[in-house]
Amino acid sequence: MSNGKQPNLRIPGPVPLPDDVLDLVGSQMINHRGPEYADMLDRMTANLRTVFMTTNDAYFITSSGTGAMETAVVNTISPGDKVLAISIGVFGDRFREIAEAYGADVTRLEFELGHAADPARLAEALKALPGCKAVILTHNESSTGVANPLKELCEVIHAESDALILVDAVSSAAGMPIAVDAWGIDVVATASQKSWIAPPGIAMVTFSKKAWAAYEQCTTPKYYYDIKQYEDYLKIGQPPFTPCLPAMFALDKSLEAMVAEGIETIFERHHTIADHTRHGARSLGLELVPEERYASDTVTAIRLPEGIDGKEFLARVKRDYNVILGGGQKSLTGKIFRIGHMGWMEMAHIDEALEAAGRTLREMQGKN
Ligand SMILES: Cc1ncc(COP(=O)(O)O)c(C=O)c1O
Repeated sequence: MSNGKQPNLRIPGPVPLPDDVLDLVGSQMINHRGPEYADMLDRMTANLRTVFMTTNDAYFITSSGTGAMETAVVNTISPGDKVLAISIGVFGDRFREIAEAYGADVTRLEFELGHAADPARLAEALKALPGCKAVILTHNESSTGVANPLKELCEVIHAESDALILVDAVSSAAGMPIAVDAWGIDVVATASQKSWIAPPGIAMVTFSKKAWAAYEQCTTPKYYYDIKQYEDYLKIGQPPFTPCLPAMFALDKSLEAMVAEGIETIFERHHTIADHTRHGARSLGLELVPEERYASDTVTAIRLPEGIDGKEFLARVKRDYNVILGGGQKSLTGKIFRIGHMGWMEMAHIDEALEAAGRTLREMQGKN
């Protein structure tokens, strides 16, 4: 809620931080090679595994989420390896571009913007790509507010191939369930500034045994994102490189709070607020970008009515109501707006954003 001069930041990350987390961002620095850091890293790794429902290895990397995606690729895929890149939007395209940049032999499986990946088409694509080394995909496409049916897609991949499953869960993890072990996901990539309720700066990845086996065969050159460095240093309770300590302090606190609240409760809370947001948008007479059954629980994408200038709309909402909404990306620029509802928030934050959007649209349409 806009508190004094603080705007109501309703973009799909970075998320606003509650005071107890924010205070930690200003803490004094510590020795990242000392016992205090080792204790924190140990605790954080255990808590990260709990949220991901996994016994797989888990690592913290000082980077944005794209670095986590790059980590997934450079440690498991070698130049010339066959990769199936599923894309339902901007971030699926980015994952593909990373794989291409490192020389993978990429086959595209693309779906229309606003739609989720279709498991039947995935099965066909895998049948047509024997020897596929990895499938790379986005869980939650933040640009369109579409959540892929990840569990179902993983089932198809396991049934049709022996491919690794590398998932961009940057904007879903900690807000929507990802059962890494039960669904057989090899690498999950995410980032601190989303539902994890921390500042930007820390990427997180999980690595399965199968991902480690692929690492042993992988010939892609790497250094900063070489996962073996993170593994070797984790054993001595240290990061390989100087970490972003303020973000780590905040993330430590948030992870503790998440495990205390219980992940099921967190996922339910996100679902309830997402439902409320979707209902609110429809009550304003607006249309959602995705089909209801694939609508994301962390970000809602809403179509702007014909004739509304998207840039002006966002500027007015900010100027008149102190609410910051997300705009559209790439081909959806100016055509949609997005309300982020991940991490720490209350219904009032959403209601304020919806009211600001509704009033602004009425003003712009000359209805007030
Ligand atoms: C689904 C998804 N993937 C990847 C990214 C990239 O993360 P970053 O900007 O932290 O590199 C984002 C960021 O919004 C995202 O939403």
